[in-house]
Amino acid sequence: MHDKNASPVPPAPPLFTWEFAADPYPAYAWLREHAPVHRTALPSGVEAWLVTRYADARQALADQRLSKNPVHHSESAHGKGKVGIPGERSANLMTHLLNIDPPDHTRLRRLVSKAFTPRRVAEFAPRVQELTDQLIDGFAGRGEADLIHEFAFPLPIYAICDMLGVPREDQDDFRDWAGMMIRHGGGPRGGVARSVKRMRGYLTELIHRKREALQGEGDEDLISGLIRASDHGEHLTEDEAAAMAFILLFAGFETTVNLIGNGTYALLRNPEQRERLQRALAEGDEGLLATGVEELLRYDGPVELATWRFATRDLTIGGQRIAEGDPVLVVLAAADRDPERFAGPDALDLSRRDNQHLGYGHGIHYCLGAPLARLEGQTALATLLRRLPDLRLAADPEDLRWRGGLIMRGLRTLPVAFTPEGIPDT
Ligand code: HEM
Repeated sequence: MHDKNASPVPPAPPLFTWEFAADPYPAYAWLREHAPVHRTALPSGVEAWLVTRYADARQALADQRLSKNPVHHSESAHGKGKVGIPGERSANLMTHLLNIDPPDHTRLRRLVSKAFTPRRVAEFAPRVQELTDQLIDGFAGRGEADLIHEFAFPLPIYAICDMLGVPREDQDDFRDWAGMMIRHGGGPRGGVARSVKRMRGYLTELIHRKREALQGEGDEDLISGLIRASDHGEHLTEDEAAAMAFILLFAGFETTVNLIGNGTYALLRNPEQRERLQRALAEGDEGLLATGVEELLRYDGPVELATWRFATRDLTIGGQRIAEGDPVLVVLAAADRDPERFAGPDALDLSRRDNQHLGYGHGIHYCLGAPLARLEGQTALATLLRRLPDLRLAADPEDLRWRGGLIMRGLRTLPVAFTPEGIPDT
């Protein structure tokens, strides 16, 4: 903690401004040092505790006294802000993994884990490669692109739709609904609520159709797998399966957009590291790609703050007393730059080995989609660098805008230039 005899503490930096959105890391360094468990008013007006040190963050993520269920949050005592998925008001959709505690969480997670297996993800690799190449085909001849709009955004939505078993002809609807949610993710607006409602209606109907059509064992999509999954004779209800499909889309979409966007941006800003990776890939060495994507998650990960937690009783985190009902936000982006845990935390080192970052969370809510995210992230970055070897930023970093949402961290646009494919590089 702060030594009273040392020079005066500089004033607390402002949080949640546009400058903060562009580079929150200096403010997080200040918090880790001077106010590691810090109570603050969020833009919505809700007061919450921010946990910024790695050791405290890891402990809090695994602390079962912190509930995920918003009913533990007393609105009258702590302000009137809204929590949860923007636009999500349906009781049905609220019953998903990120909003529930054991024993319900244990049961649902076990069921979904039977359908969403690492093997299913691995079998999906050729399709992710094909999607990646098709998207790059769309702009490779042009010499310039906005990588968020044309690449990072569509890839995850098509990938998860394919995996779930949403027919191709309907996937552009999902693209539009998801676009609405990502553009207006910061608050519950009419368009977002409508998109969520349409998505819910579509998924409910699709699940119903797939249940009717289900017969025998065999190769199948993830929704059929969810319907079929059973544990001690128990199955998911149609409502639970719809909520599960929705959370897979919701949790797996913007996160992966930002992994590809933030990751590409970090590589473009760190040319030595990017050249190292390009050399390794040219030599057929995929090892650096695997450690590199983990490092990109640590260095500037998609999930800035873990999703909401609420104290179910009075408790202490990092020496700070937290009262029952108080919301607690674990700041993954701050923990993953903690010098007490990571050597040279502000440097990007693609070969970092001691890298137990919290980018996918920790404990029972650890990201269920991590294998799919890794597959998409590695395929996207490697294919971009292989096909467009002289890829470069086509904007002043100062002019780039970051989304102002609370939980996620990601760029609105990422303009790039490169030698068009098919034209010899001189
Ligand atoms: C949970 C990060 C991609 C599905 C989480 C959590 C984090 C996270 C930090 C825990 C949140 C908390 O404890 O509050 C990420 C990142 C991704 C990514 C950084 C991409 C780079 C995906 C994908 C899927 C997915 C592709 C599925 C298609 C989930 C689900 C949960 C979750 C279902 C809830 C698990 C539970 O509560 O048991 N993710 N995620 N994620 N993620 Fe991911």
